[in-house]
Amino acid sequence: MKEKFKTLLWFGVRPKFWAHAFSLASRFFKSNNDSPDIRASATAWAAGQVRPMAEIFVGLGLVERPDVQLPRINKRLLADGAERVRRSGINIDGSLGGAGDLELLYALVILSRATKVLETGVAYGWSSLVILAAQDLTLKSNSMLVSIDMPYVKARAEGLVGVVVPKQYRDSWILVRQPDRPGILKGLELIGGSLDLVHYDSDKSWHGRSYAYPILWNSLRPGGLFVSDDIQDNFFFRDFVEMLGLPFFVSESDGKFVGIIRKPS
Ligand SMILES: C[S@@+](CC[C@H](N)C(=O)[O-])C[C@H]1O[C@@H](n2cnc3c(N)ncnc32)[C@H](O)[C@@H]1O
Repeated sequence: MKEKFKTLLWFGVRPKFWAHAFSLASRFFKSNNDSPDIRASATAWAAGQVRPMAEIFVGLGLVERPDVQLPRINKRLLADGAERVRRSGINIDGSLGGAGDLELLYALVILSRATKVLETGVAYGWSSLVILAAQDLTLKSNSMLVSIDMPYVKARAEGLVGVVVPKQYRDSWILVRQPDRPGILKGLELIGGSLDLVHYDSDKSWHGRSYAYPILWNSLRPGGLFVSDDIQDNFFFRDFVEMLGLPFFVSESDGKFVGIIRKPS
């Protein structure tokens, strides 16, 4: 009870987060599309869609043959990031959810030469780090990444968000410290114009996706890439691609599934 009151108070004094709080509260009155049973079925569905990485890149039209060597992340980049986490002294991993398939994301950004990228969900910033490093390698100063992550409710962890991203990449990086509602709209306004790549890794609930996917999809340019983590959590990804009749790909990493769609040109 005391904790609930503290949460109410936390949101109460932050008008910018009322839309998010209202959306959370309204879920009590909506059907539960994220139950353990649904999750188990969605996981089985996702597992049945998995294709080998090489086949996915050919299918997306990013490489011509499956034997082409995909770009790989320099191990030093990740080791330096881990060192920055260690030095920050902040470690609340586990309560945040970890990084997704970083090698996949890195290769997608490089091979598609994605200039304007928007991602939701930052935490330590592993995905931000590999997107920025990939952009730096291929595009240098023309690129931009906008990342959205809400402040942690009641947690004193401000220094944590994006801690793995070094200074050298921060000029082309904008971090929006707001919930998806209204952070996504703010991020789109800041980046301006259509997106080359979207990486969705924030509110993975059915209701969270039902708000964000359509907005992000409509902001993507034809030929752009839509990448969504943890599609096994519920059936929103499956229903979305079926509803729009979209070809899609699924990759698997550590028992988690990433959905990838290339917007038809
Ligand atoms: C799995 S972590 C992101 C990991 C990150 N992409 C990486 O690769 O290191 C999910 C993040 O989404 C954020 N998040 C969850 N729900 C959100 C919402 N409704 N709005 C904004 N951020 C949200 C959490 O604060 C958390 O930091």
